[in-house]
Amino acid sequence: MRKIAFLRSVRIQRADPYIQQAVRGLAADGIEAGLFHTSGTAGDEDFPGHRQRLDRGVTPRELADAVAAWGADAAVSISLPCENALRDAATKAHLDAAGIPTVMTPLAATMLLVDKWETKQLCRQAGLLVPDGFRVDSDLLAGRGLPVPGYRDALRVQAERLGYPLMWKPVWESTSMGIRTLRSPADLDDHLAPGPGPGHGSEPVSAVVEQVVEGDLCSVDIVGRPGAYQVLPLCWTGRAGAEPVFTFADLRWCGPREEADAAFAEVARTLVGLCESLEVHGSVNIDMIHTDGRFVILEVNPRIGGATTLSCAASGTNTFTSLARMARGLPVAAGPAQRVGWAIEFLAGDGIPPAVLAELRHRVRVVTAHELVIDGASHGDIVVLTLAEGEEDRTVKALTELHEATGFPAADVMGKISSLLTR
Ligand SMILES: Nc1ncnc2c1ncn2[C@@H]1O[C@H](COP(=O)(O)OP(=O)(O)O)[C@@H](O)[C@H]1O
Ligand SMILES: [Mg+2]
Repeated sequence: MRKIAFLRSVRIQRADPYIQQAVRGLAADGIEAGLFHTSGTAGDEDFPGHRQRLDRGVTPRELADAVAAWGADAAVSISLPCENALRDAATKAHLDAAGIPTVMTPLAATMLLVDKWETKQLCRQAGLLVPDGFRVDSDLLAGRGLPVPGYRDALRVQAERLGYPLMWKPVWESTSMGIRTLRSPADLDDHLAPGPGPGHGSEPVSAVVEQVVEGDLCSVDIVGRPGAYQVLPLCWTGRAGAEPVFTFADLRWCGPREEADAAFAEVARTLVGLCESLEVHGSVNIDMIHTDGRFVILEVNPRIGGATTLSCAASGTNTFTSLARMARGLPVAAGPAQRVGWAIEFLAGDGIPPAVLAELRHRVRVVTAHELVIDGASHGDIVVLTLAEGEEDRTVKALTELHEATGFPAADVMGKISSLLTR
């Protein structure tokens, strides 16, 4: 094994610092890593290996050809969100056929998991809790194909059965795009009206309509292959309720939460069973709502997650290293990955001044601080820091002093961090 290709759709900076560690680890074993990416720029500090920027619209065939032309012995998908996971799953089919084994969930399973309705069925069949809901088909709404005169009324009846408020969720889409709360039958009718809808994009899209669940949002990454799956620690990512919130709006954290962790153990076993049955290969990232001591599954993303850095930081593991080990055919850890402390992630506004960042690094353990870009739009800098259990008071004190001297972290973030760490 001499060369491993990493397929990437979003900026590689979001994988800082774990991707660099993984690439250096490979280099130490005499293996060259190559980045085949379709967004942003990457320097040596971002990916210390071969780098090839491809057009955003590259086809799976072209992507596979580029990887093969470089001479890769194996490949790994680290793309997100779901539309790019699908691209990579198709690329995997081409690469596997060309004798370049690729760490990515097979296309058939990926196609189910990128679809929120299919995922709901899979989860329900596996014995997991899901919000009750129904599917809305855009072809039928638009009158394409068979005319179904009763369709809109049938959907209204379904909605009445579930009761308002309801969530309208495009079956595709990620990072809460297109998700709307339906508070009344009139809101539903707005979404069922012909022509460009109030959802995302200019044409109505197929959607899942489901019950609103109130509780704490959380997510978990499961990394492995059939026979060996590692379950990373639970990450808490905000509140869920009738108001949809931007994925990164709240503090995101991983830390002790005994009752929830205990209740999750059983859910984790069921999720691993689901991964086994789908032959998941690589990473899945599962979004859930914790409510009344139970976990309701929102989605199972067939790819690395938006909170991967947080999971790695909190567990002292490196998902990119795990994926590279799978590409090399080396054994990977199985079972729950123990949490080694706290990891906290927060948005920090536009450009932290270098002097302030240096001061932050001096006071606490900063895992990464980089710009968060989603769909080409900047959301300012995002910071991940870690601390050991027992260091809570010292950390709050260090951050409070920094806040008093520089205004960073902002007062609202500071308030959330201190209430989390001094519960
Ligand atoms: N049934 C629901 N009840 C309450 N909030 C929901 C529900 N479904 C989705 N949400 C909110 O929308 C966000 C995104 O939903 P999710 O199903 O994870 O789709 P995606 O991440 O692909 O946009 C969740 O993090 C949550 O804030
Ligand atoms: Mg999600």
